[in-house]
Amino acid sequence: MKYTQELCPVIKKEQLNRTTFSFTVASETAVQNMKPGQFANILVEGKTLRRPISICGFSREEGTIRFVFEIRGEGTQILSEMSEGQRMDILAPLGNGFDIDPAEKAVFVGGGIGVPPLLGASAPYGENATVLLGFRSKEAVILADEFRGNGADVRIATDDGSLGHHGFVTQLLAARLDEAPCDVIYACGPKPMLRLTAAEAEKRGIRCMVSLEERMGCGIGACLVCACKTRTSDGGEKYLHVCKNGPVFDSREVIWE
Ligand code: FES
Repeated sequence: MKYTQELCPVIKKEQLNRTTFSFTVASETAVQNMKPGQFANILVEGKTLRRPISICGFSREEGTIRFVFEIRGEGTQILSEMSEGQRMDILAPLGNGFDIDPAEKAVFVGGGIGVPPLLGASAPYGENATVLLGFRSKEAVILADEFRGNGADVRIATDDGSLGHHGFVTQLLAARLDEAPCDVIYACGPKPMLRLTAAEAEKRGIRCMVSLEERMGCGIGACLVCACKTRTSDGGEKYLHVCKNGPVFDSREVIWE
């Protein structure tokens, strides 16, 4: 794993909804080896532990990395209060990321704050991507227009029915797969959504990659906080690190508990 620690100036800050922020930072080194689906461990002023934040997108040509995150506690609250011009201390890129092949027909399934990493992953697919997004309500919807701007067929589900399909994003997945097959499914979001996505993919014999979210400490495989139980090819079980071996796993490997 080739990562660097870098002090990255914030060059653009946007508030996407009441609790979700987008930060674009300038990067010279970390951006060089980056893949969609990886994450950064970001230092929060006054805290010892860094916070893992997924990479929403990056541009090697422009030397920029974009993070979109939700305020979930004190750490992300402090991060959200950073201003343009301040420097973000990041350790990146971490984790394995998505292997992408834009010639394939891909379906992306995102739930809530699991949506941002799918923006960068789906962009190269253009019209070959169907993007299914699930949110609590219309007010919680983020990035939908940006997915559309990349050429994707975007469909939305909300828990309260205030926008799009009233229900689960996995119901949109079943409907989309009934319409036409796809080569691969990429998913990021809450565990119940990932488990149902994995089951749908398995039922239909479609390759499925899931990005897991776990509590993290070091982010580099040294502290064992982020263990996840997986299946080995000979039918056994073993624990892997979400931070180092993931966060992206083949869904058939994951033991859902
Ligand atoms: Fe420390 Fe994964 S966060 S081993």
